[in-house]
Amino acid sequence: MIYLDNAATSFPKPELVYTAMDAFARTSLANPGRAGHKMALASEHALDDARHRLNRFLNGKGPERFAFALNCTDALNMAFKGVLERGDHVVTTDLEHNSVSRPLVTMAEAGFIELTRIPSDGGGTVDPDAFVKAITLKTKMVAVTHASNVLGTVQPVTEIGRICRDRSVLFLVDCAQTIGAVPIDVQAMHIDLLAFPGHKCLFGPTGTGALYVAPGVNIKPWREGGTGGDSSTPTQPKEFPYWLEGGTPNVLGIVGMIAGLDYVEKETPEKLRKHEVELCDRLFHKLEGAPFTFVGHRDPTRRVGTLSFYSELLPAPEIGGILDTAFDIAIRPGLHCAPYIHRAVGSFPDGLVRVSPGPFSTASDIDTLANALTEILA
Ligand code: ALA
Repeated sequence: MIYLDNAATSFPKPELVYTAMDAFARTSLANPGRAGHKMALASEHALDDARHRLNRFLNGKGPERFAFALNCTDALNMAFKGVLERGDHVVTTDLEHNSVSRPLVTMAEAGFIELTRIPSDGGGTVDPDAFVKAITLKTKMVAVTHASNVLGTVQPVTEIGRICRDRSVLFLVDCAQTIGAVPIDVQAMHIDLLAFPGHKCLFGPTGTGALYVAPGVNIKPWREGGTGGDSSTPTQPKEFPYWLEGGTPNVLGIVGMIAGLDYVEKETPEKLRKHEVELCDRLFHKLEGAPFTFVGHRDPTRRVGTLSFYSELLPAPEIGGILDTAFDIAIRPGLHCAPYIHRAVGSFPDGLVRVSPGPFSTASDIDTLANALTEILA
């Protein structure tokens, strides 16, 4: 089969991810910090190493500032539910995934926070000046996706971060589609809270992710429980990352994620992204003249490898179903858990056909897809 759904999760993983996880599971997969024996120490060491690697990769302010999460959604919930207080104002955008939108809308509908949603331009980018206008004295946080999971458009986070820093507003970035594909420097980008998954462009397994919390951010734990190191305190130990990390972490998944990071650092995010963006451009040109409408601006320097389009002749879910059953090609059709941007570009409720190649996708995969799409509409 041809897998072109890497924006949902990367497949296949680099070979070293499979081998690292297999070796670790067979030799070292104990409960980290819960005992002093050699296997428990090996697991604890793997987590420490992972935090150091993430801190270096993202230029964080300390390995202990990375709290492991189940996925990006979990990390975002940790941030929203741990930081926001009654009466806060939050600014977000119409590009957001439901992992950002749903917790915020629920809080807004309950009268807990006030929410402002900034519309993107027709090409799928938000204007930093719109944040200047939207921020008020009550604004606690700006929450923005680094790249739209529907349009693939990368947002000007450094400029938005500067605006937030100048106004003492917390800046949260959802890096679900960019970590591993677009260089991220949390200090240069003025990011206070960074949420990311391990299973997309970091090539780890599902069930992995983390929240970076800059020093000085006042955050309460959303999940409390055992931390291993200090069992005596009646409540969660104040020390990071244990303050945010109740329960046994997904050590095996984190080992896979860091093996994926080895691959990313060797290949470089720039090279990986270039390959994927070029394959998207190839598909765009192959389908020129065919009855498809593409959404999002076409500037390759401000895109990740995600291309979305629709046809007036057949709804996106039907195209996706035929590609799967008749051609063995996996893409993601529909609303992509991001209904606001579909409403904005006019593709609600049927949604779009989204194609997202990965590092192991080839020009021949794209040509096969282009031929299949042409045949389906014919
Ligand atoms: N957030 C993932 C996607 O965009 C699942 O498909």
